[in-house]
Amino acid sequence: MAPSSSTFLLLLFLSLLLHRIPFAAANNLRRSKSLALRRGLDPTSDTALTTNLTAVPPYRYFEVTKPIHTPPTKPCSYLVLRHQFAYTYGKPPVLTNYTPPSDHGCPSREFSKIVLEWTATCRGVQYDRIFGVWLGGVELLRSCTAEPRATGIIWTVQKDITRYHSLLMENSTLAVYLGNIVTKTYTGIYDVNITMHFYPAAEKSVFDGLNWGYSVPGYGSWADLILPISRNLPLKDGLWFEIENATDTESKKFSIPQNVYRAVLEVYVSFHGDDEFWYANYPNEYIEANNLTSADGNGPFREVVVTLDGEIVGSVWPFTVIFTGGINPLFWRPITGIGSFDLPSYDIEITPFLSKILDGEVHELGFSVTNALDVWYIDANLHIWVDEKSKKTTSKLLSYSGAPLLYSSKLDFKGLDGKFLIKANRSISATGWVNSSYGNITTRWTQKFNFSNCMILGNEANMQIVNQLIHYDDRVDLKTESSSVKSIHSYKKFPFVFYINVLDQGKGAYLEVANVTFAFNENKGRKAAFGVSKSKLRNVQKANGYMVVKNNLVVSGLGTMAEVFKYNSSRDCYFRNVSSSNYTILYDDVESSCDGGIRQFPLRFGLNRHATFSF
Ligand SMILES: *[C@@H]1O[C@H](CO)[C@@H](O)[C@H](O)[C@H]1NC(C)=O
Ligand SMILES: *[C@@H]1O[C@H](CO)[C@@H](O)[C@H](O)[C@H]1NC(C)=O
Ligand SMILES: *[C@@H]1O[C@H](CO)[C@@H](O)[C@H](O)[C@H]1NC(C)=O
Ligand SMILES: *[C@@H]1O[C@H](CO)[C@@H](O)[C@H](O)[C@H]1NC(C)=O
Ligand SMILES: *[C@@H]1O[C@H](CO)[C@@H](O)[C@H](O)[C@H]1NC(C)=O
Ligand SMILES: *[C@@H]1O[C@H](CO)[C@@H](O)[C@H](O)[C@H]1NC(C)=O
Ligand SMILES: *[C@@H]1O[C@H](CO)[C@@H](O)[C@H](O)[C@H]1NC(C)=O
Ligand SMILES: *[C@@H]1O[C@H](CO)[C@@H](O)[C@H](O)[C@H]1NC(C)=O
Ligand SMILES: *[C@@H]1O[C@H](CO)[C@@H](O)[C@H](O)[C@H]1NC(C)=O
Ligand SMILES: *[C@@H]1O[C@H](CO)[C@@H](O)[C@H](O)[C@H]1NC(C)=O
Ligand SMILES: *[C@@H]1O[C@H](CO)[C@@H](O)[C@H](O)[C@H]1NC(C)=O
Ligand SMILES: *[C@@H]1O[C@H](CO)[C@@H](O)[C@H](O)[C@H]1NC(C)=O
Repeated sequence: MAPSSSTFLLLLFLSLLLHRIPFAAANNLRRSKSLALRRGLDPTSDTALTTNLTAVPPYRYFEVTKPIHTPPTKPCSYLVLRHQFAYTYGKPPVLTNYTPPSDHGCPSREFSKIVLEWTATCRGVQYDRIFGVWLGGVELLRSCTAEPRATGIIWTVQKDITRYHSLLMENSTLAVYLGNIVTKTYTGIYDVNITMHFYPAAEKSVFDGLNWGYSVPGYGSWADLILPISRNLPLKDGLWFEIENATDTESKKFSIPQNVYRAVLEVYVSFHGDDEFWYANYPNEYIEANNLTSADGNGPFREVVVTLDGEIVGSVWPFTVIFTGGINPLFWRPITGIGSFDLPSYDIEITPFLSKILDGEVHELGFSVTNALDVWYIDANLHIWVDEKSKKTTSKLLSYSGAPLLYSSKLDFKGLDGKFLIKANRSISATGWVNSSYGNITTRWTQKFNFSNCMILGNEANMQIVNQLIHYDDRVDLKTESSSVKSIHSYKKFPFVFYINVLDQGKGAYLEVANVTFAFNENKGRKAAFGVSKSKLRNVQKANGYMVVKNNLVVSGLGTMAEVFKYNSSRDCYFRNVSSSNYTILYDDVESSCDGGIRQFPLRFGLNRHATFSF
């Protein structure tokens, strides 16, 4: 039952920068990066709402992901945090004592799968907020909230956190930072439960995910120790470092035991404020020629550079996550953007560099972002594997090549209209050996990236087309004294095509027409003496729609989403084809068996199909 209401409420993503004045004067549309991308549309109270709030079930948002493969055992589950995030902005993270499953009467001590479950409800009016969950300073989850409706919303995020196993078996402090602001206008309070599920190993524990590699130590078990590379408490903020500009480097000192034989740095990244839509930023030459604001500048290329004692050890070319208020908020209701509820983290193999840090001294990991504008939230977890049978391991870096970033740009513009082509590539590789009681293993780490971004501006910069592609390859090759080369690789491709056109409607109103098609594609493979295992993921979202904004208020609009998620591997398959339009699921086909591709029967379990919300 659709309402006859004339206005409704959508909040474009505002992130942290709540004090920034929204740039939205309709008579000056072009003086901003695709104006509609700017956050900060003002909300209004919904006068037309007549529904009995308590009678309507909350509207459920979701991100399409492959269900977590759990063993057939009964999990031992307990709630680790319940909190209502009201006015939490600029306040310390919510802290709670975390106690391991042994303190909760869980019978087993051996768990082959551990799942973190975040469930939240919210009602009223609120922006989408970035948040993080840390255990002992180690980040477990980076995520963004869903924007509520007056009648209430609910969503659940389940994340496989088995890789943090060692940490989860200890007493520690759990910290959650979700900077929310509650006022008369922004009424939404996020009511959150965090539950942990521990699945006892079924019979003999088969090491899930890495079971190919019993023959290579360090690849058959999760890390023995995880060091937080994040800011220390107490803080009135998240534990992430905040990178504000291109010259800003944030770093953390740490030291590791002297008997480590493998180390992996897991990096968490999110971008906000002026860089929330970094891929749509204009080159500085264009900014200067047209006297535009530098908050829209530095071009569309970004790279997170990771250094160890000042030397580059790896890089992250991030996936283009779009938060739940981004571009057109109606795109993401209820199917949220790829990665928005569980932002990807990125691994950097540190093993070849171990010789630099096995001396028991203090060392430093640093982060910077090429071309960064305010603000990037970055931190990391250092996963390390310890050789219990020896006091000291020895290691040597045999070769290293960290070629500088190669960057080219072709700019062709006249006034506000033009065409730009930005390309970049980089490769990093390092080889080193580590001798431990497991033998002498030589590890070669390689990263290869290339990037292209073709941007067209027309209609006096009110129309923008972005066509971007990131190739992100990394690979680890291992050689033991006795065996041939083993390898593990991940080849990722992030295509991103974006169109936006903003049309002045006069009297302080504009129409935004936009569409975006983007994907997270990844081929993973492992090669060991006895065989090869592969997986292939294709996760594509296509969204299109429009909205009319008047005096910073969205007054009407439409958002349509179609997502195809295809995963197959030597072990399992998952396929989902789902679409929504303006809060309603149009179809939802799920297939989880591998036999013979996709069957044609629709399993249309209509999430939210019964919904008759007033907006
Ligand atoms: C709203 O709905 C609830 C549950 O259906 C009911 O108990 C309540 O009386 C209703 N309130 C009004 C004002 O209709
Ligand atoms: C959180 O847990 C409590 C207690 O189990 C439950 O009453 C409440 O409904 C839960 N809230 C959410 C958002 O899941
Ligand atoms: C955790 O701390 C509690 C006391 O708060 C203690 O009883 C328990 O033994 C500790 N557990 C571990 C695994 O250290
Ligand atoms: C970059 O950010 C850092 C950290 O806030 C600040 O100290 C520095 O002055 C900034 N540099 C420029 C050029 O703005
Ligand atoms: C450029 O911006 C400056 C500072 O805002 C302003 O004084 C100047 O008039 C502008 N020039 C043009 C050509 O718009
Ligand atoms: C890397 O970028 C440079 C500069 O744009 C270009 O000349 C070179 O061909 C690129 N290399 C690859 C492998 O793409
Ligand atoms: C390799 O490490 C093991 C275990 O620490 C040690 O026994 C052995 O002597 C080392 N090998 C060499 C050649 O140093
Ligand atoms: C480990 O292997 C490398 C490469 O084969 C060799 O150069 C190095 O001397 C070996 N180290 C030890 C301690 O045996
Ligand atoms: C980018 O890298 C991928 C993977 O290394 C490669 O297949 C592709 O050809 C590269 N593209 C360009 C333009 O260099
Ligand atoms: C996006 O919209 C433009 C303009 O209407 C259109 O040319 C283009 O084909 C659309 N792309 C997609 C993927 O819908
Ligand atoms: C889509 O939803 C918005 C917000 O509820 C509403 O204003 C608009 O009329 C709807 N559009 C269509 C075509 O249903
Ligand atoms: C995925 O499925 C296709 C078609 O069934 C098959 O040819 C391919 O080998 C599978 N890929 C993997 C990685 O299992």
